[in-house]
Amino acid sequence: MEIKNNFSLKSFNTFGIDVKTNQFIEIQSSEELKELLHHFKLLKKDNKFLVLGEGSNILFTNDYDGIILHNKIKGIKIIEETDESVFIQVGGGEKWSDFVDYTVNKGWWGIENLSLIPGTVGAAPVQNIGAYGVEQRESLDYLQAFNMETGVITTFFEDECIFGYRSSIFKTLGKGKWFILNATYRLTKQPNPKLNYGKLQETFHGRDYLTLTPAEISTRIKEIRREKLPDPRHIGNAGSFFKNPIINKFKLEELKHSYQRVPFYIVDENRIKIPAGWLIEQCGWKGKKHGNAGVYPKQALVLINIGNATGSEILNLANLIKKDVYEHFKIDLEPEVTIL
Ligand code: EPU
Repeated sequence: MEIKNNFSLKSFNTFGIDVKTNQFIEIQSSEELKELLHHFKLLKKDNKFLVLGEGSNILFTNDYDGIILHNKIKGIKIIEETDESVFIQVGGGEKWSDFVDYTVNKGWWGIENLSLIPGTVGAAPVQNIGAYGVEQRESLDYLQAFNMETGVITTFFEDECIFGYRSSIFKTLGKGKWFILNATYRLTKQPNPKLNYGKLQETFHGRDYLTLTPAEISTRIKEIRREKLPDPRHIGNAGSFFKNPIINKFKLEELKHSYQRVPFYIVDENRIKIPAGWLIEQCGWKGKKHGNAGVYPKQALVLINIGNATGSEILNLANLIKKDVYEHFKIDLEPEVTIL
């Protein structure tokens, strides 16, 4: 286990922000975590640490004054397989999109709509990643996490993770306490396409669903993503910067007076989700630049690093947008990315 001091995080966050951390340590196993806990006496409160996967949902606005633990725990193994389903365990440090490709190539159903999402498997449950009508919680069976305070490994079944929209216990009550070692997903072998998302419905309209394959859906998802979302290898970004706000049905009626065609998704009988990208576009921010930060021209919910932006430049732009959206709509935007 190598400890790197005063280490640049530029290639460890998809915004490409050039900040440093006091210490950077790659973790390959739970044994290494135990050793580390002992070595650093992390039990002492003054040792601040952060678990980092690919840094695809984080904005650093300052150097990190602590220890970054980079999850490199690898491995994909089948735990149980029947004619109907397969339980597959994946190391928290595996790349999420590689894992999805692996399952899609096997012809297994469950996470094909989550193709090409940047980040690691260990980060997927933390914010309960979701796209195109599917969330990872729907296929997660359980995960194992290392308690950074006690060194004990705990199993969390899906219903113990307190999943919500882009949220989990690991982002709320248990924030900063757990290192996710591995996750076990339950995938099915019977066709189970999830085609609620408009563009998927259009593409596969009229097809006999029993003849569809996860690979076809995954290929289409990748096309849709590439049309709308910037590739972090070329343009620094962290996907959606804000969550889609949830409003009540009375607020929606009010909005419809001024904007008859406001897009929305029904959450339940009282609550409605409004695409934050639409709100931001209505305020005139789509494609706008502000210093080295900008709003992606094809999807206003994505903030981008145009040049060598600092984290503060991106945050300033986010704050201007948030203020403007509030002034126009009296709707508060909440960041989806973790801001440090
Ligand atoms: N829209 C606009 N202008 C924009 C962007 C969107 O008017 O610039 C409107 C359009 O009406 C569009 C609607 O918003 O039809 C929805 O847009 P889109 O389908 O792109 O989805 P989204 O609600 O903006 C969410 C997730 C994405 C996920 C997509 C697809 C959040 C915060 N974001 O975006 O997730 O890929 O749905 O399911 O929930 C991410 O989390 O990083 C992410 C990219």
